[in-house]
Amino acid sequence: MNGFVIVGTDTDAGKTTFSLLFLTAFADQFDYWKPVETGDPDSLRVRRLVPGVTVHEPLARFHDPVAPSLAARREGKTMPGVAEIVAAIPTTSKPLLIETFGGPLSPLMDDVLQIELIRAFNRPVVLVTSSAVGAVGRTLATVKAIGAFGVQPVAIVLLGPPDPFAVEQIEKHTGGGSVICLQAPDGEWTEDVLARVTAEERGELSRISEALDKTFSAGVAKNTPHPVHFVNHPLPQGQRVFSSPSPLAGEGGSRSEPGEGLAFNTSSKGYEPLELIKRDRSTIWHPYTSLADPNDPLPVIAADREFLHLADGRTLIDAVSSWWTILHGHRHPPLMDALTTAANTLDHVLFAGVTHPPAIELAELLLASAPWAGGRVFFSDNGSTAVEVALKMAYQFWCHRGESDRTLFVGFENGYHGDTFGAMAVGRDPLFFGTFEPLLFRAIQVPVSAVCLEVALSTHPGQVAAVILEPLVQGASGMQMHTPAELRAIFEVAKRHNVLFIADEVMTGCRTGQRWAHQHADITPDLICSAKTLTGGILPLAATLASPEIVAEFQTLDRAKTFFHGHSFTANPLACAVAVRNWRLLAGDHWRTDTTRIEAFWQTHLAPLRDRTGVKDVRIRGTIAAIELNVSGGYLAEIGPRIRQLAISRGVLLRPLGSVVYTMPPLCTSEESLHLIVQTMIDSINLLPT
Ligand SMILES: Cc1ncc(COP(=O)(O)O)c(C=O)c1O
Repeated sequence: MNGFVIVGTDTDAGKTTFSLLFLTAFADQFDYWKPVETGDPDSLRVRRLVPGVTVHEPLARFHDPVAPSLAARREGKTMPGVAEIVAAIPTTSKPLLIETFGGPLSPLMDDVLQIELIRAFNRPVVLVTSSAVGAVGRTLATVKAIGAFGVQPVAIVLLGPPDPFAVEQIEKHTGGGSVICLQAPDGEWTEDVLARVTAEERGELSRISEALDKTFSAGVAKNTPHPVHFVNHPLPQGQRVFSSPSPLAGEGGSRSEPGEGLAFNTSSKGYEPLELIKRDRSTIWHPYTSLADPNDPLPVIAADREFLHLADGRTLIDAVSSWWTILHGHRHPPLMDALTTAANTLDHVLFAGVTHPPAIELAELLLASAPWAGGRVFFSDNGSTAVEVALKMAYQFWCHRGESDRTLFVGFENGYHGDTFGAMAVGRDPLFFGTFEPLLFRAIQVPVSAVCLEVALSTHPGQVAAVILEPLVQGASGMQMHTPAELRAIFEVAKRHNVLFIADEVMTGCRTGQRWAHQHADITPDLICSAKTLTGGILPLAATLASPEIVAEFQTLDRAKTFFHGHSFTANPLACAVAVRNWRLLAGDHWRTDTTRIEAFWQTHLAPLRDRTGVKDVRIRGTIAAIELNVSGGYLAEIGPRIRQLAISRGVLLRPLGSVVYTMPPLCTSEESLHLIVQTMIDSINLLPT
């Protein structure tokens, strides 16, 4: 076990009292750490009263006995953020007892609640409250509130005179389990008093220790917090019930029924689901959605890890990472921390003739991952514009070289590069973009094959500016995949014909087990487009990486040769700061481990479906998995919307690409959620007519 976290229902719940009792009972087994202290330091008290325990220095200590963020502000200091505190967890040989401060919903920083930190600790939680009047309501409210963030206590401790009624009620409403009463010592606190009370309460204290041991041996020790579960019940208007399997509930946990337990009244925040939908439908035009679509949009009011929480109380697993953007998980604490930290000093600034540290650092990080030295990064704000920039740079490059006749681009069948005009021209999907055909510039599409590219380039010598390809996985057309060897062969044909190669990594970036999919083929594209996961999906940002050869053609004082392109929000500082943190995270191995874990899961559970009747193909690469069903209709296959509805009813958000049902979940997705996604995909095959 690597320890646990003590959380109080509120500021004076008795967290330190509990720490003292527990540490006195198990002095040789735990270390103690309170990361942030205000007022009289609890760590000094613990050191004095339980001298056998190693007490680690807090990361921050503030004088005023008020909320840490306020105390920090009063002293003109900065309150450490979630990532900073998590990074400061002391390395110990014994399990660590971490004591939090205030209540779980008290502010950590101006915009961050302490529950975010508790969640980020990723350790079992012991919830402490006073047994004084109101214990039941206080405890259940806290259990429900932290449950909404995916945190469940392994034990609940009532400090004070025993209250069997409170224990009975709390057990009843949380599903039973480790609800424990501990007498708190009265009067002067000394080592002797603590020793006496601890001896009297040893039985109860041991129950807590057993509950923790059980949690660890049950595998929760990896400390993935329990997911908030989908409740497929109608709820009273204006209320949502968060329900989670509780470790207090024994095997399988318990689920709240509507009207039972605590409901969060959301109407005060304006979250009436029907009202939201009505207002949406009379004002908003949604992407890739008919204005006459009979299906209402899903009103999402909160998101965390792989979950989307809806205004009507349901929780869905975001199995498509919100259009392939979310990389680690929704509101990934280090990224949110980077955002709030950056927002303390900057908002948006123009990027022409101006620069800022987040953009500089991000450019350095991106170029360090590029296949050449000495390139440059051009920022924009979405995948389509990253592509648009690449196409324009490619053509202007040839113009600077005196080859302005290279007005042709080569894309590939099933390619998709975005919805702006240049991106449409090279994607050229007849269903999506056929209407605009008369307005699109010259581009041809060839099958994903080196031989076909060879024919095309031989047929148009000196006319082609660039070839553009989504390396390894063509996403929007249904996760069509090719091998690294095929990618390499295509690249070599382009180079043999002296044509630029654009790797559109907008979707594939960080999804295939390498930062860039083209790395699998060991090739050196001239231009690399990145967006979606660049910021971990938290904020819109895009980058086009240009090779030194391209850059050299623009290194001129001739102002007519400027690359005349730029968007108002180019290199938005907040987005860059988040992207920097994301790319620093990618320097570790965590994300590769998760990619391997998820890919192995797909291989075990989805690959065997290849032999199922009705299945045309199963394709897997990294965290991406797709099942192509044997039905006609392509993107408009009638089964697509039916699968989506089925999935929603199972608590999973899928967006089939016509006859292709695919998933690409965030890296944090738990084993339990992966199972649900797989089961839902299998069930979707069963929708096929027999
Ligand atoms: C490969 C690829 N390129 C470009 C884009 C366009 O990105 P955006 O939707 O951010 O404009 C997408 C979007 O899905 C994509 O998959």
